[in-house]
Amino acid sequence: TAGSAGSHKNSSYHGMPTCGAAGSNRKDDHVRLALAEHADQRANAFDDVRFVHHSLASIDPSQVDISVDALGTHWDSPFYINAMTGGSVKTGAINTALAQVAQAASVPMASGSQRAALRDSAFEESFATIRQWDPEGFVFANVGPDVGVEGALAAVRMIGADALQIHLNSAQEIVMPEGARDFSSWPDRIAAIVEACPVPVVVKEVGFGMSASTVRRLASLGVRAVDVSGSGGTDFAHIENARRAGHEYAYLDGWGQSTVLCLLALIEAGEDDDGARNASRSDGLGIRSVRGPETSSGSMIADAHLGGLQNLPASADAVDAHGATEGVAGLTVFASGGVRTPLDVVKALALGARAVGVSGHFLHVLASRGPEGLTAEINAWKNQVRSLMALVGAATTADLTGTDLLLTGRTAQEASLLGVN
Ligand code: FNR
Repeated sequence: TAGSAGSHKNSSYHGMPTCGAAGSNRKDDHVRLALAEHADQRANAFDDVRFVHHSLASIDPSQVDISVDALGTHWDSPFYINAMTGGSVKTGAINTALAQVAQAASVPMASGSQRAALRDSAFEESFATIRQWDPEGFVFANVGPDVGVEGALAAVRMIGADALQIHLNSAQEIVMPEGARDFSSWPDRIAAIVEACPVPVVVKEVGFGMSASTVRRLASLGVRAVDVSGSGGTDFAHIENARRAGHEYAYLDGWGQSTVLCLLALIEAGEDDDGARNASRSDGLGIRSVRGPETSSGSMIADAHLGGLQNLPASADAVDAHGATEGVAGLTVFASGGVRTPLDVVKALALGARAVGVSGHFLHVLASRGPEGLTAEINAWKNQVRSLMALVGAATTADLTGTDLLLTGRTAQEASLLGVN
């Protein structure tokens, strides 16, 4: 029946391509190489963010609410299974397994790019399986801007999607042997899709990060939600390099901005935009007091020098009451890219993300422990997010944006160079 997770108890799940297996299909290659890449998962910018420990801050975990409001609906979980796959027999099996997990653990889930099925209806089943196995869950369709309005609407219909992700993957396309090279039509196509789409649209990166100016540009196109999907986890420059004999673009491995840096830049940009519109920002002697657009919890950046103690502002929130279509202050911001633990989830939420997407780590758990193992992992993450929120004294996910954070290392330096402080 829909939602009953399979009973794969072996250490390797038979529906998954294993590392080293030959893959003729690009989608199979991506899964195989993403899993291989995960094997040497490394430190990333989330390690440059630390919560200041306050011994008396803790609250009762039973009073912690980890749910979030996003895209006009309510999610039990502040994290979700982000876009990965579909478009081959093997990856259809992965989508089935992921949908079983999403249903069993009650988390939202995104399809991988549906372009293959838009070109050849024989592949539709590998995506439609998501809705079959997760009939009530929140599901994202996924396309690139190049498919245009008709393709985007067809992708939404194909899986009865609640929202649409449009992925921006120019860095991947450049490295990809068969990749597209002309991205000049993307802005117009994105604007047209947003205009026509009956469900909310989230424009996302694929692990290279989104700058504040990109997000501003997207806002001017009518986009109301983004997933910054930064570097630090799955690296599609590395993956595409591994797929071509000459590895010509090996020097692009690691391209892009970390998820943490993207979130910091958007906090700064949100303050600027909010301040410009409402003249509500006050600057002092290295101390600024700022107020998030929706929450009453004012917050402070208590030290303009990076590396110092920062009490970060409340996140940019739902649609701007003034109806502004430009600027980032009113956008819903999702974060993904390099999320390895429940602590990374809580850090991303504290840095203003509305909810947090996870791809590489969940794929790895599915491959090694099967759907039951991934369901158990996600349920454990939910409990740990609750405990961590209690530890830092946040009763709600919105409260996390008022917690004290320390920013150190390379991320502090990069933030300084971007003028984020
Ligand atoms: C992806 N990702 C992705 N994104 C997207 O929008 N459409 C897609 O088809 C895919 N395909 C895909 C395949 C595989 C195997 C992986 C691991 C990832 C990118 C994904 O949604 C996310 O943006 C990045 O992977 C960064 O997150 P992680 O993996 O570091 O958690």
